Amino acid sequence: MILVVGSVNIDFTIKVKRFPEEGETITDGSFFQSPGGKGLNQAVASARAGEKTSLVCSVGNDVFWNFIETYLKNEKNLTIFPEVYDNFSTGIAFILVDEKGKNKIVVSPGANAMLSPNHVRNVLEQSNPNFVVLQCEIPFDVVQTVMEMKNKLNFIVVFNTAPFKSWIREIIHLPDFVIMNEVEAKHIFGKDVKDKDSAVNALKDYPFHNSVMITLGKDGVVLLNPEKGRKISHFPAFEVDVVDSTGAGDTFAGYFSAMISAGKDLEEAINLAQAASAVCVSREGAVKSIPEIREVLSSLKNLK
Ligand code: RIB
Repeated sequence: MILVVGSVNIDFTIKVKRFPEEGETITDGSFFQSPGGKGLNQAVASARAGEKTSLVCSVGNDVFWNFIETYLKNEKNLTIFPEVYDNFSTGIAFILVDEKGKNKIVVSPGANAMLSPNHVRNVLEQSNPNFVVLQCEIPFDVVQTVMEMKNKLNFIVVFNTAPFKSWIREIIHLPDFVIMNEVEAKHIFGKDVKDKDSAVNALKDYPFHNSVMITLGKDGVVLLNPEKGRKISHFPAFEVDVVDSTGAGDTFAGYFSAMISAGKDLEEAINLAQAASAVCVSREGAVKSIPEIREVLSSLKNLK
């Protein structure tokens, strides 16, 4: 069983032809709202990949959480353990998506910032997962608690370094798998990571012994695999028309975790996670764009 420890947001998205300049107002956007948050997106991805998945999170007792709960009520394979606060709002994300599918996101964390180590510890002890998935829209003391319990409860940790926080450097050696995009890699390695060659270069100097994946969007994924003598390999991306890139990294992390938990090897897990991300970016929204495993398997026939 996979337990995602992470954030829940309501995403307010406006699609625009282009991002506004500073001080400029654009009036031809089109709006939609969708459940989101990196934690929830990863949990939904893992559940839709076919693995029994739980999410431990913190939300407000408000209309946003009502909307998200209602939206997810028929989600197979997903159980949510929320801490519900009366005096904090559910996390809110304002997202702009341009006509190339690129996004700019601002988050007000609300109740996500209140997720407590005690609640997470209790859920970990009750559910006894074999995999735990973490990202960085939650407090550092929660991440530390998970790492402290890793050896006691004997679970594997997949850590997604999104969004970048300076405390990542203190714990990056502890998880079994680390997934980062080029922006986070640039902060973590202190050097420009923008394509396959610069990602390979950055990973050559990585001093720790866990597996690291750098996701590069249309440039694919670069993997450092300690189990194959620290071999660095490149996985090209599938070609796809990008409608909205929101949630692509989360879909990758959720699918990757589910595939490893289901016994796939690293290469196959990365391949399926990339295919799932390719389907995700071809549609609008975060949670609403994450594909079921049958869609991913059938899309593999058409993806190049
Ligand atoms: O990774 C995409 C997510 O980032 C969005 O769903 C938004 O809520 C922010 O957390």
